[in-house]
Amino acid sequence: MKGVVLAGGLGSRLLPLTKATNKHLLPVYNRPMVYFPIETLVEAGIRDILVVTGGANAGDFLKLLGNGKQFGLSHVNYTYQEGEGGIAEALLLAEDFAENERIVVILGDNIIGGSIKKAVKEFEQQPEGAKIFLKRVPDAERFGVASIEGNRVLAIEEKPPKPKSDLAVVGIYMYDNRVFEIIRELEPSARGEYEITDVNNNYINDGAMTFEVLDCWWTDAGTSFDSLLRANNMVASWVKEGTVSA
Ligand code: G1P
Repeated sequence: MKGVVLAGGLGSRLLPLTKATNKHLLPVYNRPMVYFPIETLVEAGIRDILVVTGGANAGDFLKLLGNGKQFGLSHVNYTYQEGEGGIAEALLLAEDFAENERIVVILGDNIIGGSIKKAVKEFEQQPEGAKIFLKRVPDAERFGVASIEGNRVLAIEEKPPKPKSDLAVVGIYMYDNRVFEIIRELEPSARGEYEITDVNNNYINDGAMTFEVLDCWWTDAGTSFDSLLRANNMVASWVKEGTVSA
């Protein structure tokens, strides 16, 4: 299985912090934000990683990550997303890299306080399709929100004003190679982006989506000043005390 870290976009929600740097390079307590998703992949046993970046400061990723020696990697792959076409559009840039293998995709601003190793192993055994992670949150309207029945996901709604559940869709997704075919058939959403939620709903409609509810802590770090502050506080208490008071 290969890993893809999506760290593109222009970071406009965090201006002026992102005027002179990419949001995924901003500090989250003791590390640059993008370290966390890379560490999550490496801990899960993934060695072949593509970083999709963008914006005016993409070269800084190479300066920071180099060949990935600090993560125990022997090389890192990079590619460049022009503009802000959304997560699914950024993922399409990983098609050549994937070479028909399955992929784990992680958003460059998602930080989790646990391991995805077991779920990655389970997905390797899954005959086909996709697997997502869900997390119970008090503010589901900020995320993709899943409705479930037993062990089935019924649908995901992207940032619904009145969420049907408290199950946020975490920015870590596992896909078989059909994902690229699905993305090519998508239409842009109302916000003009190719949405990862539309990709996931395709798999759901085909009955090919599994999920796991995370019990470790999770946060996004780059969607607002508050999310960045919360991520900093969570990582600080995790590093200093080994626990998180969310
Ligand atoms: C994206 C996805 C959303 C998901 C979230 C996780 O939102 O569109 O479904 O719940 O990441 O961080 P964005 O942060 O791009 O607004």
